Amino acid sequence: MSISIPQLPKGTRDFYPEAQRIQNYIFDTWRSTAESFAYEEYEGPMFEHLELYTGKSGEEIVSQLYNFKDKGDREIALRPEMTPTLARLVIQKARELKKPFKWFSMPRLFRYEKAQKGRLREFFQLNMDIIGTESIYAEADLMAAIATMLRKFGLKDGEFAIGVSSRKLLATYLEEIGAPNPSLVYPVLDRRLKIGPEAFAKALAEAGLTEDQVKKLDDFMSCKSIEEVKTRVHSENATAALAEIEDLFATLTAAGYGECVNLDLSIVRGLAYYTGIVFEVFDKGKSMRAIAGGGRYDSLTEKLGGERIPGVGFGMGDVVLADLLAEHKLLPSPKQSVDFYIASFTNDMKKVFETAQAFRNASSGKPFSVAHPLAAMKMGKQLDQANYQGAKIVVYVDGSKAAAGEFEYKDMRTGEMFVGNMDAIVERL
Ligand code: HAM
Repeated sequence: MSISIPQLPKGTRDFYPEAQRIQNYIFDTWRSTAESFAYEEYEGPMFEHLELYTGKSGEEIVSQLYNFKDKGDREIALRPEMTPTLARLVIQKARELKKPFKWFSMPRLFRYEKAQKGRLREFFQLNMDIIGTESIYAEADLMAAIATMLRKFGLKDGEFAIGVSSRKLLATYLEEIGAPNPSLVYPVLDRRLKIGPEAFAKALAEAGLTEDQVKKLDDFMSCKSIEEVKTRVHSENATAALAEIEDLFATLTAAGYGECVNLDLSIVRGLAYYTGIVFEVFDKGKSMRAIAGGGRYDSLTEKLGGERIPGVGFGMGDVVLADLLAEHKLLPSPKQSVDFYIASFTNDMKKVFETAQAFRNASSGKPFSVAHPLAAMKMGKQLDQANYQGAKIVVYVDGSKAAAGEFEYKDMRTGEMFVGNMDAIVERL
């Protein structure tokens, strides 16, 4: 009987060192951009009480929960998103936290999704959120950070777009046309482009809308400019919601991000807690799933039993982002690249270890990465290893041409041989 070897669970990934190197590049760029916008990092547990999500996050995400009863009979769920955890953290220290504040996190999340391109069951998601202000400039700050980050990854303006919509605006329009219960209508509106016109009309009819209302709504959601919208809405609330979007766009334009944002009223978002601006980031032509999505949630803390504290933020997944960067050939080489490889003709391992340590400490900044053989072996084999590990310089601890305090060394990038002391070698790097 053959024993089957262990299999990777569906929708998960292994990160062998080459994949992890790419992953770290994404994490580093996320973190450095968030920090350059003065967001502070936080974390929470990977599992929470089930009830943190049920009834608050929205049907779709709840249907995708990985949940179970623990040994103490408690209903537990692996976190499918970070926002409820963030809201819990905020409620717990509502008094102490000086508002507004800007936080980021890079959680590992779990959703029981049908595994498909851009969607996995375990993934990472950068979250950036601003808590404690209703100001539209919070949205502006988040969108500026998104554009900065995508540019840092090497994407050009025009290769991505932040589509902006407003639930407030949609709500006032629904009211104007006399449509019933917006909370029933939003999930349908969110699926509008995915399900096609017929299924859209049918689902809205089921939610209680007339044929005329469906037509009006479809026309409204197709508007591509603020001017177009202005001819369709007239209420005071709608005008205020539009003025807010205009201010947002003008601010982003002044900061040099005008090309990165556009009005896109087809965006509604599936999650239940959004109350104002909602936005999604897509590649040009929307050929892939959303790179990121977010919005304003001014009543989530209240829904969870705390006081009302406004919030706005977004999540950017690693999966679609990596696919997009790969398509544009913007991912770095996955190969290892060490600074020094310490070699020995006589297999003098004590000298090798001693020299390796001296080179690690020779950096005034980040320690140099230094490799060396782990067993006695011929020089040819050592050079093979040095090559494989991407060493920039091979240092020989016992080269016959080196005087005391000096080493023979080889620059692997040019093939040239030199003799010099440690300072000269470090300089060469
Ligand atoms: P979301 O739209 O559910 O929002 O997810 C945001 C992003 O996470 C998506 O655009 C996508 O890049 C990525 N993502 C979602 N599901 C998967 C999956 N199964 N596999 C791979 N990537 C995925 C939220 O999660 C909100 N909590 C974001 C937020 C933060 N809103 C306010 N603050």
